[in-house]
Amino acid sequence: MCGKCIVFISLIVSAIAIYPYFDTQDFIYNVPKVFRISITLDRLLEYYEKTPSKDPEWYIALGIARGQLEYTVNELDKSVPLKLKENLQNITRRMDRIRNSTDYTTLVYRSKDYEYVAKATFENLEVLSSILEPLTIGTMGTQKPYRFTFEQYVQEAKTKMPTRKAADACMMQLLISAMESQTTQSDGACELAPECQAQIIQGSGLAFQQTSRVRAIMLARFFDCMDGVDLSALIYKLCIQIYKETKSLEAWDHPAGTRTLFMQQIFICASQGYGEFIKPRWMNKVISWQEPKGCYADDRQPFLKLTGFVGPTASPPPKDREEEYRVKKAASSDGGTCNSLTSAMALGTLVVYVRALLETDQAFQYDVLV
Ligand SMILES: *[C@@H]1O[C@H](CO)[C@@H](O)[C@H](O)[C@H]1NC(C)=O
Ligand SMILES: *[C@@H]1O[C@H](CO)[C@@H](O)[C@H](O)[C@H]1NC(C)=O
Repeated sequence: MCGKCIVFISLIVSAIAIYPYFDTQDFIYNVPKVFRISITLDRLLEYYEKTPSKDPEWYIALGIARGQLEYTVNELDKSVPLKLKENLQNITRRMDRIRNSTDYTTLVYRSKDYEYVAKATFENLEVLSSILEPLTIGTMGTQKPYRFTFEQYVQEAKTKMPTRKAADACMMQLLISAMESQTTQSDGACELAPECQAQIIQGSGLAFQQTSRVRAIMLARFFDCMDGVDLSALIYKLCIQIYKETKSLEAWDHPAGTRTLFMQQIFICASQGYGEFIKPRWMNKVISWQEPKGCYADDRQPFLKLTGFVGPTASPPPKDREEEYRVKKAASSDGGTCNSLTSAMALGTLVVYVRALLETDQAFQYDVLV
């Protein structure tokens, strides 16, 4: 009788002792996934170490990824295999080597406005890469892909704002105001012109129009630029819409030019803490899209024009057409022309996946997300 009691009691005791143990160790099942990502990341960075990019977006993504990865390595649980930790540290060092050997004077900017935005971002990269939102699951709801076709989606996106030109102008204005409010002694707050506010807040969005708004809102929130507006709620609302769209791009089987957008959506909204964007299925896709030479390719320009993000919306002059045609020819003969922005979005996505998969408290949940 007493023997039974002891067995029973020890069962309870061991259950209590074991339960939290399993709970916090669940992420261990993700270790093989992170190994795969680390191999992909290493090859991607190796390519750009040998073949430096001239695209500022690549260096912005690199800085943000560096911050996230350093945080992840510092916070690693003791049970993560040493070899994986070393891999991640080696990746961080490769990022440092790339940054160290970059000649920033040779970067190419698409416009004066964008040049200001990129340079201000570089100046503040240390701070911007240290903003980390905690990742949680269960706030996005079960969003279904859009019912309309990709062709209808492209038509609809054309009606959305802002264009890339307008987005660059607004972002520049935001950053100028933010920098001034920080450096001057006068208590001038960061303020946006009404057009810029409207661009960020109003209306629905799609495609790059929408992701560029989220980027602007993130900065506006960080620099305290829109007093009285609940910017976190706005990011939440937009990431729900984006989630629907990310699923749609997948349902449409990733039409040409949309991989960059797909990865940008994951990168941005997962970085904002939305764990629904962490799916092993999506991770496998991103890994499989890597070119044999290590970089990422996406025939993005025609898609940018089709969706109206880059003008003119009317048919491009014949010269441009010729250019596009040539790019396509090269792409099919050489297994894809490297695209720095696509590579930058892959880098950001992969690093946010590393962080999510190794975080202890909910890492096990990602496998069951559809
Ligand atoms: C990390 O880099 C060092 C020096 O290059 C190398 O000796 C080591 O094997 C690397 N570690 C892993 C796990 O690849
Ligand atoms: C970067 O460059 C500085 C000086 O130019 C050097 O001291 C440092 O060791 C370099 N870091 C890496 C990771 O190469």
